[in-house]
Amino acid sequence: MTIGIDRIGFATSQYRLSLEDLAQARGVEPAKFTKGLMLDSMSITPITEDIVTMAASAASQILTDEDRETIDLIIFATETGIDQSKAASVFLHGLLGIQPFARSIEMKEACYAATAGLDYAKRHVEKFPDRRVLVIASDIAKYGIASGGEATQGAGALALIVSSNPRTLILNDDNLAQTRDIMDFWRPNYSTTPYVQGAFSTQQYLDCLTTTWAEHQKRFGTSLDQLAAFCFHVPFPKLAKKGLDSLMTDDLTETDRDRLTSNFDAAITYNRQIGNIYTGSLYLSLLSLLENSRALEAGDQIGLFSYGSGAVCEIFTATIVDGFEQHLRTDRQAELDLRTPISVDTYEALFYDEAQLDETGSTSFKTYQTGAYALTAIDQHQRIYQKVN
Ligand code: HMG
Repeated sequence: MTIGIDRIGFATSQYRLSLEDLAQARGVEPAKFTKGLMLDSMSITPITEDIVTMAASAASQILTDEDRETIDLIIFATETGIDQSKAASVFLHGLLGIQPFARSIEMKEACYAATAGLDYAKRHVEKFPDRRVLVIASDIAKYGIASGGEATQGAGALALIVSSNPRTLILNDDNLAQTRDIMDFWRPNYSTTPYVQGAFSTQQYLDCLTTTWAEHQKRFGTSLDQLAAFCFHVPFPKLAKKGLDSLMTDDLTETDRDRLTSNFDAAITYNRQIGNIYTGSLYLSLLSLLENSRALEAGDQIGLFSYGSGAVCEIFTATIVDGFEQHLRTDRQAELDLRTPISVDTYEALFYDEAQLDETGSTSFKTYQTGAYALTAIDQHQRIYQKVN
């Protein structure tokens, strides 16, 4: 029996900000963002789109009635929690109509948590092969207006259905994690935006990558020439590119280099346009690879590097399943192009928009464009979600 990712769903917001426009507004050379960070635009959310609405939109694209009956575990990975007590997965369970005898939890460790969630899902299916797990990675990256990380914001949710005999990717048994207690990026409870040591965070990302990869090779005998592609956590594509460059040692043949480089370009196609979506970023890159590479075949091995500040990282590999392309979409780019371009003024207005609660703790919201689900009101401090499209 194999275990892995059967299907992948993805949703982002309906608004996008061009990084050239942002650069001009901040008095920065546009090439710093488009070439220096390798970012073209970023998804911006209105107040009515949050981690739950994006997760519901992503999951509803792929869920079947059979999934609703067989999913008995929902793992919601996020660092953009909407409640300190109630897990976002419980809202999601209700919105998606999953059968009642399910466990629904939320997990956090910066951009890393979805990877721990995926491994938990794998172990669950190992024990109960006829059950399925819904793993969600949903976040809104908000660094602050005119902050150092402003160009690396974004929003999006990935929904991964984990099952036995998966039709897209088999998860191999070679996960290796590393933990370091560092302060490279963190967000205390009293702050809506993170504190970041930008340059330090990029050094830590790269050092975690190379040291974990060296240990992975030792323990599991992995090597780059066996891999069709390597996907990375993508806070911005340039850092992932530096990651790939740091792994490609001089002994690698030209053919191996060309394969890894061209698949890397496929793997950042969506991330360039959406920005950092924190814990979903690696899985967006994986989806981008699967949907945009012309060179992948069944049996190909993909390396994955997950990194969450604080810091925990992990490297593992997955194997492509015969017929995988039938479970992917070919119209994703057209959908991304449909996002409404917004001005820097509109982006700033959306950034600062806050719920204005009345004395009962209630409010309803102006209508913004959202995906299939929206936060339509807050009623006596309770968030009200509805299917709207
Ligand atoms: P910065 O310091 O303003 O930028 O912000 P810089 O001066 O380092 O320039 C960036 C690149 O643009 C450089 O390229 C410049 O040379 C180039 P590099 O030398 O690195 O190859 N550049 C230009 N290129 C072409 N034309 C030009 C031009 N000007 C400059 N005219 C920084 C960079 C990453 C610090 C900032 O964006 C930031 O703080 N971002 C947020 C933190 C972050 O993303 N860290 C990544 C690692 S930590 C992580 O991945 C976890 C995270 O996702 C959170 C979580 O886990 O929850 C962030």
